[in-house]
Amino acid sequence: MKIITIVGARPQFIKAAAVSQKIRAIADIREVLLHTGQHYDGNMSDVFFQELDIQPPDYHLGIGSQTHGAQTGKMLAAIEQVLLQENPDWVLVYGDTNSTLAGAIAATKLHIKVAHVEAGLRSFNRRMPEEINRVLTDHAADLLFAPTKAAVNNLQVEGISEKKVHLVGDVMYDAALYYGDKATQKSSILEHLQLTPENYILATIHRAENTDDSSRLQAIFAGLVAVADKIPVVLPLHPRTCSALLRAGLLEDASKSLQIIEPLGYLDMVMLEKNARLIATDSGGVQKEAFFYRVPCMTLREETEWVELVQCGWNQLLSPFDAEIITNRIIDTLTKVTAMETPNGLYGRGMAGEEIVQLLMNYE
Ligand code: UD1
Ligand code: UDP
Repeated sequence: MKIITIVGARPQFIKAAAVSQKIRAIADIREVLLHTGQHYDGNMSDVFFQELDIQPPDYHLGIGSQTHGAQTGKMLAAIEQVLLQENPDWVLVYGDTNSTLAGAIAATKLHIKVAHVEAGLRSFNRRMPEEINRVLTDHAADLLFAPTKAAVNNLQVEGISEKKVHLVGDVMYDAALYYGDKATQKSSILEHLQLTPENYILATIHRAENTDDSSRLQAIFAGLVAVADKIPVVLPLHPRTCSALLRAGLLEDASKSLQIIEPLGYLDMVMLEKNARLIATDSGGVQKEAFFYRVPCMTLREETEWVELVQCGWNQLLSPFDAEIITNRIIDTLTKVTAMETPNGLYGRGMAGEEIVQLLMNYE
């Protein structure tokens, strides 16, 4: 069996690493790796291939940053050429980026079967580019690997045949189990940044709805700057956010209070997550990793796809509109000790990669 795995953006390298490891263990499957080039800086791409021992891409499309239509369109045309040449049995796509959507459309139009890892997530906010990418990819896919019960339910409500849908758990949980201890062994980021465990906040911001709206961006960064009066705030800066802060003239001031650093490799990032007192983020992956390492999380968004974390109290939504409210809610959460439920199995048993490979092999 031949599988073409399509990746392009940071979280996809991490997700694909967890599954590729299991694919490689099976002699009957040949995996061809296609990198669209959506992310291309060394610290947004290469570092993950090195650290997570991912095979070098067989195809690198080098598409780079563009408007949504141009980026997705160029990917679609270039992926189609590769699929025509390789004629795989399956195309495997991950998550909700433009690379995901381009891969799903290119394959389905050529009648090549599509499998979607992280299917069924919904924010119900159609202004998010990711929401459009997810819905369209799920409806194009032949096999849908859902990470949570909520995701299965969303697919059922949309009328997707339940035969196609499999609750396998979250591949990011597999990755956390596999790489969590390695991070502790290998990373010296705490010493490097002179941080002490449980005595800093880790923040990440990159969602388009936060970075591309200057009043939200201003509120979030002013809110975090005021928090930094009480406790260090360390923020690995996504390139999108870096450009937005520069455009808004906010980067210099923010850098005086926040410990703003370059994007990190996965092991350093995990180490910072594990030892943080609290995580403030708008990232999907980081919300879950906070829970995997049992660190309270505040999500600077109005909604989340990972609703189960809000239900059990490990994650709180924090509207990103008002700096004072952001500061007060974060400080409040730091000082308030609340008992939180830690249900087992929310994201599976750490076997999602294995189950995905088995389901692909046994598909009829
Ligand atoms: C993309 C995904 C988002 C995901 C995120 C993970 C889409 C629509 N969005 O958002 O769902 O959460 O990746 O990080 O697919 N840039 C660089 N260097 C890079 C990559 C990007 O400088 O290596 C800058 C460019 O200015 C670019 C901007 O970041 O225009 C945004 O990059 P893009 O890939 O379009 O979207 P992300 O915000 O990264
Ligand atoms: N991550 C990383 N370095 C960073 C920021 C994030 O390795 O500087 C990892 C993080 O641990 C998680 C994934 O990247 O595994 C999340 O990616 P991102 O926040 O870019 O995208 P999202 O999950 O929101 O789609």
